[in-house]
Amino acid sequence: MEKYFKGLYVRFSKSQKARFIEDRKKHSTSLKNLKFSDKILGEFYDNYYKPTFFEFLYNVKTIIYSDNVFEFITKQDMEDWDLYSYLKPLIDEKIIKVSKNGKVILLKKEIEKFIPKPQTVKQIKAAIEKKLKIKAKDKQAVINLFKKFDGFKVKAEWDQMPISAESAFFVVEKILAKIPFNKKFLLVGDDDFISVILTLADPSIECLAIDIDAQLLKCIDILAKKFKLKIKTKKVDLSEKKDLKENFVGFLANPVYTEAGVKEFVKFGISQLGKDGGFVLLEVGDEAIGNRFLFLQEFFAKNNLVIDELILNKVYYPHIKLYEEDKIIFKRMTEFIDKKTIEKSPKLGASLYVFNYLGKRPKRVKFDKPFYAYL
Ligand SMILES: C[S@@+](CC[C@H](N)C(=O)[O-])C[C@H]1O[C@@H](n2cnc3c(N)ncnc32)[C@H](O)[C@@H]1O
Repeated sequence: MEKYFKGLYVRFSKSQKARFIEDRKKHSTSLKNLKFSDKILGEFYDNYYKPTFFEFLYNVKTIIYSDNVFEFITKQDMEDWDLYSYLKPLIDEKIIKVSKNGKVILLKKEIEKFIPKPQTVKQIKAAIEKKLKIKAKDKQAVINLFKKFDGFKVKAEWDQMPISAESAFFVVEKILAKIPFNKKFLLVGDDDFISVILTLADPSIECLAIDIDAQLLKCIDILAKKFKLKIKTKKVDLSEKKDLKENFVGFLANPVYTEAGVKEFVKFGISQLGKDGGFVLLEVGDEAIGNRFLFLQEFFAKNNLVIDELILNKVYYPHIKLYEEDKIIFKRMTEFIDKKTIEKSPKLGASLYVFNYLGKRPKRVKFDKPFYAYL
């Protein structure tokens, strides 16, 4: 199927480029008086508009799993011209049928095996509860979901700390929404057992979880074996090893929340992506970054990461007394608030960044572009 989609991608990009050039020359009000050669317009397309293979698949995914084709426009922040450029080949190649009211009907049903379906938090939670035969408590540490199967111990020495179960379900919802193809997904560090939740929710997904913590990886292996999940694990110190010599569709990193930590984890992850692009999820809380976030933004841009989404208010860590200093802040908070309330409340919040990784850096097309020219 990958070969089929690669072929479709080549045909799609060729016809999208031809249409791009023709439409800009003939039908654009803002470009009317500017005389562009096909060559210059082609350079604009190649550098700024041609999607990576995985971005193309993600756009296809958005259309085939929408109820109505027009959802594409609001989900992707794109316009009707883009929607048309996807609808045309999908309809011509009999992948979908679209009713006159915009409803999408998938004709090539086998595609569902290759492009993972989005799921809601509710569906993900229900799948976990059914398979693990437990009642999941949203606000508890995610590791509690698995405590009857493994003997995982949180280790401060590697900066581990569990997010809440509902945060983990949300992260998995995002991965399932974004994952463009059933090719391996990478977990750069996995103390929140996201690989396990992801593959329990959709057992067709393949993952590799790398981590420095051998005991954690053993727990993931136990769960993978018990529930027949397609998870591989590998003990890696990412500050030493750089190349896993495999291809991935994307990765999730929950790094050490420092400037150096974010850079090290993200650099390691993008070293495993290639010219087909990929999507990157990054959890990051502001424990010790502050205004240095500006330097991180420069780092993201230099490394071809385009911010697609920045999600606040979804990922948080429940109360825990892991480090000595946790007891100190707990004591200080009790000056105003009940112990029980503190223990039931979040301790630390994190943002979830979603990036589109550009396989190739775009080159600036030299041209004095007027302010109102839509090109
Ligand atoms: C860095 S921790 C999570 C940090 C997050 N700030 C928190 O507060 O929970 C995420 C995972 O990375 C792993 N990890 C830490 N240092 C690592 C290294 N050098 N190489 C590979 N994995 C590492 C940890 O074992 C853990 O499973």
